[in-house]
Amino acid sequence: MPQVTLDGRIIHYEDVGTGAPVLLLHGFPFTSESFWPQLEAPPAGCRLIVPDHRGFGRSSLGVGPSTMEAMADDALNLLDLLGLKQVVVGGVSMGGYVALALARLDPSRLRGLVLIDTQAGPDDAAGKEKREKVAKDVEANGVGTLVDDMLPKLLHPKTSPDVRTRLDALMRRATPAGVAAAARGMAERSDSKELLARYSGPCLVMSGDTDPIIPVQKAKEMAALVKDSQLDVIADAAHLPNLDQPKRFNEGLAKFVSTLKS
Ligand code: MLT
Repeated sequence: MPQVTLDGRIIHYEDVGTGAPVLLLHGFPFTSESFWPQLEAPPAGCRLIVPDHRGFGRSSLGVGPSTMEAMADDALNLLDLLGLKQVVVGGVSMGGYVALALARLDPSRLRGLVLIDTQAGPDDAAGKEKREKVAKDVEANGVGTLVDDMLPKLLHPKTSPDVRTRLDALMRRATPAGVAAAARGMAERSDSKELLARYSGPCLVMSGDTDPIIPVQKAKEMAALVKDSQLDVIADAAHLPNLDQPKRFNEGLAKFVSTLKS
């Protein structure tokens, strides 16, 4: 797995496939490995660049909360070091929040935007409180309870138990400090609805049809905000359609990328 050093911090990333560069950003509390079917068999015509966000996988944690802007800035620096001026930027859930933060920091870097099982709105007061509770709990007791709470909601019931087992193990390797910093970072995230309404580039909004964490309605709302958007609802998929329906997910992403003007 290649790595770069940013301000003394290491950022690991995967770089697989050939074609249009697609920056693919993972959710919480995962790593780049949560895209394993895509890393093993990238969507046609796509070069996937998939970093471990700061504090996850093999990437170093920064100082203070891992804000969506800080993670987006890491990704922009990685693109600079790879010599990539414009890429398709996609993210799953928290990765989607990071993709939106990146669009806010530097919209000129986006060739297209892919929002997967994510939402444009910020946390409300109760949501922020819940994030702080999660952060304190993982700091005191480790990530076990968070994983136990999240796992049943992440995958579709029809998905193979092997996928569930691998995802479970991947999440349990997350460090309490990394998870707490990201939970606090998500609590600080901005409202991106206006940003989406202003965004004039192409946008693909994907969602599992039965996501219990971020319901498909949120995907519909985002797609309605963007002028040039397509909505792709994936059947028999929950919060992580790239794991529930990898072939279908890859086809949707490849189709979107193939329509983009160079
Ligand atoms: C994720 O999968 O990244 C999280 O569910 C996002 C969140 O907690 O808002």
